[in-house]
Amino acid sequence: MNRDYLNPKLSATERTEILLSQMTIEEKVGQLMQISVATTVEVKDGNETYFEYGVRSDDEIKEWVQGKFVGSLLHCIGDQVSKIQEMALSTRLGIPILFGIDAIHGHGLHNGATIFPTQLGASCSWNKKLVEQMGRVTAKEVVADGLHWTFSPVLCIGRDLRWGRINETFGEDPFLIGELGAAIIKGYQGRDLSDSDSILACAKHYIAYGESIGGRDAYESPVSIRRIKDIFLKPFKRAVDAGCATFMTSYQSIDGVPATVNKTVLKDLLRDELGFKGFLVTDWDNVDALIKNQSVAHDIDEASRLALEAGNDMIMNSPAFYDACIKLVKSGLIDEEIIDNAVRNVLNIKFSMGLFEKARQYKPNTSVFSCDEHLKTNLELTRESIVLLENKNDILPLSNKINKIAVIGPNADDIYAQYGDWTYFSHPTPKKHVIPKRPYYTMLEGIKEVAKAHKVDVSYHYGCDVMDPQKEAISEALDCAQDADVIVAVVGDCVAQNGEFKDRANLSLSGAQQRLLEELKSLNKPLIVVLVNGKPLAIPWIKENADAVLETFNSGMMGGKVVGEILFGETNPSGKLSISFPYDSCQLPVYYNNYLGWHGKKYIDMPSESLYHFGYGLSYTTFKYECFSLSHAVCNADDTITAYVDVTNIGMMDGSEIVQLYVRDLVSSVMTPVKQLKGFEKVELKVGETKTVAIDVPIKELAIVNPQGEYVVEPGTFEIMIGPDSRDEVLLKAKFKVV
Ligand code: GLC
Repeated sequence: MNRDYLNPKLSATERTEILLSQMTIEEKVGQLMQISVATTVEVKDGNETYFEYGVRSDDEIKEWVQGKFVGSLLHCIGDQVSKIQEMALSTRLGIPILFGIDAIHGHGLHNGATIFPTQLGASCSWNKKLVEQMGRVTAKEVVADGLHWTFSPVLCIGRDLRWGRINETFGEDPFLIGELGAAIIKGYQGRDLSDSDSILACAKHYIAYGESIGGRDAYESPVSIRRIKDIFLKPFKRAVDAGCATFMTSYQSIDGVPATVNKTVLKDLLRDELGFKGFLVTDWDNVDALIKNQSVAHDIDEASRLALEAGNDMIMNSPAFYDACIKLVKSGLIDEEIIDNAVRNVLNIKFSMGLFEKARQYKPNTSVFSCDEHLKTNLELTRESIVLLENKNDILPLSNKINKIAVIGPNADDIYAQYGDWTYFSHPTPKKHVIPKRPYYTMLEGIKEVAKAHKVDVSYHYGCDVMDPQKEAISEALDCAQDADVIVAVVGDCVAQNGEFKDRANLSLSGAQQRLLEELKSLNKPLIVVLVNGKPLAIPWIKENADAVLETFNSGMMGGKVVGEILFGETNPSGKLSISFPYDSCQLPVYYNNYLGWHGKKYIDMPSESLYHFGYGLSYTTFKYECFSLSHAVCNADDTITAYVDVTNIGMMDGSEIVQLYVRDLVSSVMTPVKQLKGFEKVELKVGETKTVAIDVPIKELAIVNPQGEYVVEPGTFEIMIGPDSRDEVLLKAKFKVV
């Protein structure tokens, strides 16, 4: 037995080869297995049925760890982790287990850890530094639990709002997604993968998972390889360039070929074109899905072989793969070299991240959970994530003449709705009996705390249920609002309406919420609507009738405190939408970077433009853009052009502005969108202050993908547009030529 693989002075590659050369086929295939420690057990509570995270029996776990040498486990937290790791370290080769978990807006599956806004919420901050810090905090809390790997970031592009998982995306634009994805990857992985508080990131779900027909989860994405390279691959390229250690294969099929068996995507694009060096894990039970959902394999042997040959390395929770794969190798149906390469990819990462050392030095330390420093980061990010969509007659910030606020609505005091998906009560199915640990502020609690300091009274009524139209107490809610000077209505959706398996066709307000709003409006008092929702909803009535609208999406622990601050003007909102809103779900898609060329430009019965636009958000102050200029009038393909613009705060309050730069290719050999985000800068400006904002655009970023799938920078005239959001009417424009 050559135990030099335990020598941290050797390189990861050397250690991998020394270890691999001594492994049996059982030990090799074990390294490719990822098994869930949690099982889902059905729980009956009266007439309610939900699923709990049960835990596999000790015998089952012992068998996977010591009998099959499992390489990775997921959905395991707390002191169970070190117990299981001890078992693994006592096997013949003592290869430590890689523990993975969905810590996707903080270490959310562990009650007590810091819970941030969801990716969709955080993306409205457009703040790369704060999103990176969110990753850093999450890494420290995941490590505190003895875990090593988060299945994050989601780099899917949220373009069909019916899809259940929109809340997990950074919105609809590939460039913004790529920038924020790279930022959070750096946050997770830290300075070096081997640092004690670094964890592996996982770029998912590779690829075009959100583009499934009708927003139907894990279904069919009818996209060509050209389209993939033109739109969906870009955020993943940014992830590879940011050093992302792992990728996750998506569920759905791509132009009829399931991602799990799609060699073009998993090998030609990911390995050859992007140069990805880490390892690829499938999504949950993708191998069995080839048989039972996608019918491209007769049995587990065939499914296992197809998955391996296509380029997957680690297999998430398809237990039968283990025996099937060993049998395939022993019967010569697959070449052991394929197994060896997959094991190399996994072991290389395990050695590179110092797992053999970390596993032996782990000490539980959950004192970092929700520590002051982490809460401070959360608060800063939340303050920049909330979007002011309407503020008619500058009704906000609230005047100091008001004495009483009525806070009405189903999401006013509901921390479950506010946290959103992928937390300790949302998985595997929503359960209300779990008591969330403090600190957190529901909308009501935050408004009350800030109102108290302003000597303003607050009354509250839930008004109605968020989903069930029969459950409402609107008349009582109206009584509660009768003597208020202003009404804050908190509506939206809930965890049962967002997430995997929860695609939603009708995006109008559910339950009796719309009726509640209309009855409140009939009181003829100022009506401020606060939205707590996992995705854009079809809210034309709110846009028309509310005096002010705040979009918070799922704002995490600090959401209520920040909304209180914003209502009273202690925080000036600076968030901007990373995703467009529809008038109605039958209008979809409404994303901004679409093509021209629609006969009639609209439905005969519905506008074509979105209700709220990508990049849109108001402030309590006003910004003026002037002196827009370009560094070049003529460029060649390897130039970088710089756009300059002066932005001045001409309002009455200090604030931050997200300056956006869009490009349009005026004539191209393939269709290109009417505009595409190619740069942005967030600037803080005191009252009266002017800053010159400079944004660089490398000309190679303007390449199109031609029908042969090649990236080509075509000569011609381009237009650069710069301004506060994506609407044509607010953008300054200038042309330049590429020769
Ligand atoms: C889930 C999700 C994926 C998640 C994985 C592990 O089904 O599709 O995003 O990371 O399984 O929980």
